Amino acid sequence: MNDRFFIRGLSGARELSGTIPVSGAKNAALKVMAAALLFRDEVRMENVPAIEDVKRMSDLLADLGCKVVSGKRRTTIRCFGKLRTDLSPDISKRMRSSIVLTGPLLARFGEVSLPHPGGCVIGERPIDFFINGFRALGAKFSIAGTPSGKTYRFRAPGGKLRGAHIFLKNPSVTATETFLMAAVLAEGTTTIENAALEPEIADLAVFLNRSGARIEGMGTSELRIRGLPGSALLRARGAVYTTMPDRIEAGSFIILGALCAKKLRVEGCEPRHLKALLDALSSAGVSLEVGKRHVTVGTRSRRIRFRAVNIKTHEYPGFPTDLQAPMTVFLTQASGESLVFETIFEGRLNYAEALTGMGADITPMDPHRILVKGPAALRGKKLESPDLRAGLAFIIAAAAARGSSYIHNVYNIDRGYERIEERLSRVGLHIRRLSS
Ligand code: EPZ
Repeated sequence: MNDRFFIRGLSGARELSGTIPVSGAKNAALKVMAAALLFRDEVRMENVPAIEDVKRMSDLLADLGCKVVSGKRRTTIRCFGKLRTDLSPDISKRMRSSIVLTGPLLARFGEVSLPHPGGCVIGERPIDFFINGFRALGAKFSIAGTPSGKTYRFRAPGGKLRGAHIFLKNPSVTATETFLMAAVLAEGTTTIENAALEPEIADLAVFLNRSGARIEGMGTSELRIRGLPGSALLRARGAVYTTMPDRIEAGSFIILGALCAKKLRVEGCEPRHLKALLDALSSAGVSLEVGKRHVTVGTRSRRIRFRAVNIKTHEYPGFPTDLQAPMTVFLTQASGESLVFETIFEGRLNYAEALTGMGADITPMDPHRILVKGPAALRGKKLESPDLRAGLAFIIAAAAARGSSYIHNVYNIDRGYERIEERLSRVGLHIRRLSS
């Protein structure tokens, strides 16, 4: 738990080259694992990333009484018989995605209890959308004070949710996924308006429909779900779910390549899920070779000058908030002034202070905006990874810097990136894991 990374900076040299494979998407795999609670038979998954959050989700499901068997990037889950419906506070406080378990648990067993879900410290992370949505589906909500803090409890009268119309104030990703799963077993039809459009949601819906769900409108902001009759559950019937590529991991590697590679091929990604990033990098003067399942980036020229570009994060298909920190590192090396506007989370710019400590020229404008002036040479430093996406941004900054860096709280990086130091070493970065 106290591992740290040692990284030797490239001082602006372009030494990275080769091919780096992209893992399965954390934010797709976690939701399909939760969806296993909707199934009468075994759910088989492939290309599952070997990351801490997947282990935590496995622990949560096992704690409820499910049988989870994990192999080499394979996971099988059986959620048979009478299961518990109270989420383990120790585990769910460490991972925001635990909240999606409420949908299947409440829909199948008529009740669920949970602590305030944890996860990255990137803002307050309220759950009002979940409370309002479950109430619309007929559930009763209560809060109990317990020694370990507040426990939220939802209960469906008669053990069954009723289909309803849900309007989401923000197109929340996990709220969309949670109600999508709950509606599969609710009585009657549910519509979700202003649903999030992230590709992982359509991916989940396709998997559920293949297993007997009746979801319409996938890929659009209006979803319509007709609940299964009576106590029916979904059936996978032996079909295997293959986790889609992680677009955030792929985007981070492309940014790293733009700064430090002579030629880096990011293999096994979906470039069509990265249009906002690729557009921003192209506007900054980065040359990209975009294939069907790969992006190649880099140049041999040491004198290349990138142009500053303004970034405004936005729900998909806009610029992903999860790539905001890595992109800011890139902008510290671009010529001119770039305004970075984080519109989704109010606490997702805190990492910028550490970059300033490395030599970046970043001026905070307000809780949602920073002004980045470049190019500014970065110097290696001791860093603490505040969350998994800023953690990867620090790896990129350390790689571009002059001198060496240590990154502490590597658990935060291991939450979302599988064997990151092995894969980066293979393309030429001097990065070592030091276990204390
Ligand atoms: C998901 O978080 C992802 N997490 C996040 O990735 C990602 O940054 C985020 O979507 C946006 O793309 C998972 O899928 C596990 P939201 P989520 O609900 O669903 C507000 C990572 O690194 N809101 O879409 O929690 C909220 O405060 C993580 O993998 C409410 O106000 O994000 C935010 O401002 C970090 N009330 C906005 O909605 C609610 O009840 C969007 O949040 C719920 C959310």
